[in-house]
Amino acid sequence: MAEDVPFPYLRWAKENLRGGARISLGLSGRAPPGPDEWPAGGLPGPLAVGDAAADLRRALAARYEHPPEGIHLTAGASHANFLCYLAFARGGHVAAETPTYEALHCLAGAVGATLATFRRDPKRDWRVDRAQLERAAPPGTRLIAVTDPHNPSGVRLDPDDLDHLAALAERRGAVLLVDEVYADLDPAPRPPAARRHALTLTTNSLTKAHGLGDLRAGWVLGSPAAVRTLDLTDDWVHPVQPALSLRAAAQWLAHCEAPLARTRALAAERAAQVDRWIAGRKDVWWRKPDAGLTGFVRLGTATRPLDGQVVARRLFERHQVRAVPGAFFQAPEWLRLSFGLAEAAELDDALGCLGEVLDGAGR
Ligand SMILES: Cc1ncc(COP(=O)(O)O)c(C=O)c1O
Repeated sequence: MAEDVPFPYLRWAKENLRGGARISLGLSGRAPPGPDEWPAGGLPGPLAVGDAAADLRRALAARYEHPPEGIHLTAGASHANFLCYLAFARGGHVAAETPTYEALHCLAGAVGATLATFRRDPKRDWRVDRAQLERAAPPGTRLIAVTDPHNPSGVRLDPDDLDHLAALAERRGAVLLVDEVYADLDPAPRPPAARRHALTLTTNSLTKAHGLGDLRAGWVLGSPAAVRTLDLTDDWVHPVQPALSLRAAAQWLAHCEAPLARTRALAAERAAQVDRWIAGRKDVWWRKPDAGLTGFVRLGTATRPLDGQVVARRLFERHQVRAVPGAFFQAPEWLRLSFGLAEAAELDDALGCLGEVLDGAGR
């Protein structure tokens, strides 16, 4: 069967204009500047994108024990997710968890796909509601999307749920997209979901666990065939990653274990601090996160829930403390708290302010 090539010129240019000719009349821009053209202070290594991309792929392959030809480099996890939807769900049907990171819902509309959601249940460790999943992902579904660790709760996807999702996706011939942007913060790291079956994709980046969002260094892990499809589709979107960013990302990965260990230790301390605060109150509840720097807090009581938007607004207006209303995660009675503050006293201060707002709520 002939391969679908969405943007034939760019595909050709990538395969034909990157060397191999004695003289090229095909390059419409200038050659990359050498180090002598740059201001004093220098750059992190040569600027050839091909080399930098290969280096970063090698670094990621070693870190995640995944073959380099199953890695597609992207401008952050946002681009990675968009590309997966565009390549695999365009004009089709998507099933995505809820609550979740809003993009996993919006992207369906962006690529002309329909969306149905399935619940993750806070009272059952945020497990997947399988009856809802079955209804949300009927035959013909093209993509099923989850986060692991879960955004907003920071709870790990139960291994049985991952098995179940992968088996269902396989039965449907659908892609299972697992956004693992918080996975490197997990104190007990697990292999990427991308190893599950040929159509399971893991998206990730250096944004959250590594604090390097400004590098826009992200990736998709998948089978070589799936990565080929992403590669072709990306000819439309972001055909080449910035060399400086690739180079810096590869350098970072070579020595990221010590900073990651420090961040995980800080996350554990701060999560315990929030947990103590929650245990001391009757009007908030959470399932303590397993990993990461955020948790999802239910406001009020079963009989008297509170509006997260109102609480967040009062918290800011009265105390200039920001928290994210749960409505952004399709859960209006919740608040997403990110607790990765450097100082314990600062977190105590913020929680004290939230406590004051909750004490006065309803008045
Ligand atoms: C689950 C999830 N995926 C993707 C992203 C986007 O990350 P990036 O900065 O790598 O594009 C975020 C950022 O908030 C996120 O929470």
